[in-house]
This record gives sequence, C-alpha cells and structure tokens, in this order.
Amino acid sequence: MHIQENVSLKQYNTFGIDVKAAFFASISTVQELIELLSNNKYPDPFIIGGGSNMLLTQDIKRLVIHLNIKGKEIVDASFSDTEVLLKVAGGENWHDFVLYCVGNNLGGVENLSLIPGNVGTSPIQNIGAYGVELKDIFYECEVLHRTTQETRIFSIEECAFGYRDSVFKNKLKNEYVITSVTFRLTKKDHKIMIDYGAIVDTLSRKHIENPTLKDVSDAVIEIRQSKLPDPKKIGNSGSFFKNPIISQKEFDALRAAHPIAPYYPIGSDQIKVPAGWLIEQAGFKGKRYGNAGVHDKQALVLVNYGNASGQEIWNLAIKIQSEVKEKYNITIEPEVNVL
Ligand code: EPU
Repeated sequence: MHIQENVSLKQYNTFGIDVKAAFFASISTVQELIELLSNNKYPDPFIIGGGSNMLLTQDIKRLVIHLNIKGKEIVDASFSDTEVLLKVAGGENWHDFVLYCVGNNLGGVENLSLIPGNVGTSPIQNIGAYGVELKDIFYECEVLHRTTQETRIFSIEECAFGYRDSVFKNKLKNEYVITSVTFRLTKKDHKIMIDYGAIVDTLSRKHIENPTLKDVSDAVIEIRQSKLPDPKKIGNSGSFFKNPIISQKEFDALRAAHPIAPYYPIGSDQIKVPAGWLIEQAGFKGKRYGNAGVHDKQALVLVNYGNASGQEIWNLAIKIQSEVKEKYNITIEPEVNVL
C-alpha cells in the first residue's frame, strides 16, 4: 500500500480545512489497517473516515489513515419474522447506505437520510435526526484495537449509547477503530416514524397519507436541504454544538428570564434546550466573520465560506460559546471533535 507524504486533507474533511498530513494512506481492507497500525515507523496514527465530525486546526505530523473499507452483506435474512441483519463496512458512505436500504425495502434508517459521514463513525456519536438515533437500528459493531490489533464485537449494551454519545467517546476514546456495523432492519411491517413536526408538514403538503420508506427519506432529504448547507458547496460539519441538557432548576431560571425559550423534557428532571435557539437569540444567525460564519437557516451550523482556517472557525465557536454563557448562563459544548 502506498504511503504518501505531505498530503492536503482538504477533500477528506467536510469543513474543507486545508491542513496537511505528514504521511497519508488510504486503506480498503482490514488487513491493510492491521499492517499500518502495527508498523512502528508510524506511531499513533490518526484515523479519518468521512471527516464529517471534526474541525482540524493544525497540520497532522503523524500518519493519517483514510478508512475506505467497502461492502454490504445480509448476514441473517430471517433474524426475526420482520427483521434482517445487514453488515456494512466502516468505509461505506452513510447516505449511500441509507439509499441502498430504501431501494431494497429495508426499513429503519430512512429518517437518517443525508447525514454526512461514513458508517464506521456513526456509532461514535450515536448519530441522530428526526426522531431516530443510530442506537434504534444498531445490532453490533466489529472493532480493531489500535495497539494490540485484536478484533472484537461490541453489543448495543457495551456501546453505552446516549444523546450524541457512546463508550467510544468516553471510556474507550481512541482505543478502537470500528471496521463494520451490523444493523437490524425491517423487511416488512416497517415502523414509519413521522412524529417529527417537519416531516408531518412535508408529507401533508405532498398529500401523502401512507408514506413508504422512500416517501419518508425524500421528505427528510427535502427538509435537510432546506435548512442545512451541502458540505460539497459550503464547508460545514452539521451541528457544531450539542443541544445542552440542563436541570429543572437551571431551566426555571432560563424560563423566568426568557419565557419563550423552546425546550424538550427528558426524563423527570432534565431539559434539553435547542442550542440553535440560544445562538440565534444571541444574535449570531447568518453572521459572517471573515471566512467563517453561522449558517443563515440553522444557527447550530458553523460554515467555512472558502478558505477559513480551522483556528478561524474555532475562534468563532469560542466567541459563540462565551456569549451564550454570558447571556443565558448555559454552557454549550461542541459536538464535533476539535483537533
Ligand atoms: N432553533 C432556532 N434557531 C435556529 C435553529 C433552531 O430557534 O437557527 C430552534 C427552533 O425552536 C427549532 C428547534 O431549535 O424548533 C429545533 O431545531 P431543529 O429541528 O433544526 O433541530 P436541532 O435541535 O437544532 C437536531 C440535531 C440535528 C438534526 C435535527 C433534526 C443536534 C445537535 N442536532 O438539531 O442533527 O438534524 O435535530 O432532528 O442534536 C447534526 O447532528 O449534525 C444534525 C444536523
């Protein structure tokens, strides 16, 4: 396998940040990954998948491994009367995988249409949108240990999924590379999830009463395209911040000062507040600072208008974070990995 030197990572991260990798290799088999991870000449390599959840603020002096392992296989066609298990390689593009499912009458992922990134990184932050999270269709994943090169399987329980969270972001951060994910998908009696307001509105505008998987996927694509910038046209990483989860007491204080603040109760004592609302109210929506900016249709998304450096985007993120803290006494945390 060919190891290149001094390679720009601009096309490998959806923010389109032009930092350099000292060494770079794209791999398409698990065997190649094992070879590189065990090669002492390149200690502590940096693994990149779809590059959709990272902000690169500096050159990477190590080896960057681009995970490009492809393949999809039904490993159990009769997992239950209504479900199959589909194993998908980590380097498959997420949206291509969703379209494959929709086209082959496999249900469960249609609400997650058009999410940027690859299948292999989807469990790390338990990607989610429009009422569905990865954990709802996850069966297990296969991983490779970065230093011992041992392979093992993680069950759904072992992944410890939470809102934009998993064991791979916490206790086991940077320990494993996810090489494939096995999904539990419906082959009949699909559970169509259209509780989310925007989906209901889109379907009713199209006079669709009994939506198919494709109808739901099309609706989600339409909604996302109307709100979220296409990373191929304007660099971005989807939601830059997570929606903060605060206590009832903190929420009471917020509501006393700002009676119209939107919210979603979680359990008995926790409330999720849309960070997009906080950022918009703090006056940032649609604002541009040099080459960095806040998207004009969704304030949760930071954008690269062309040649922004990672540091420029990060400076804007810090400014937003501190103004939101000052105005609402709520800390918003980045959803993306800042490197
Ligand atoms: N809002 C504003 N101004 C904005 C944006 C949002 O006031 O500029 C408020 C509105 O009250 C709106 C509410 O926030 O009703 C929720 O907005 P939206 O439905 O767009 O969802 P979100 O909470 O901002 C989350 C995910 C998105 C996902 C959508 C839809 C996070 C961090 N983000 O955004 O995920 O697509 O829900 O389910 O949870 C991503 O992770 O990259 C991503 C795009």
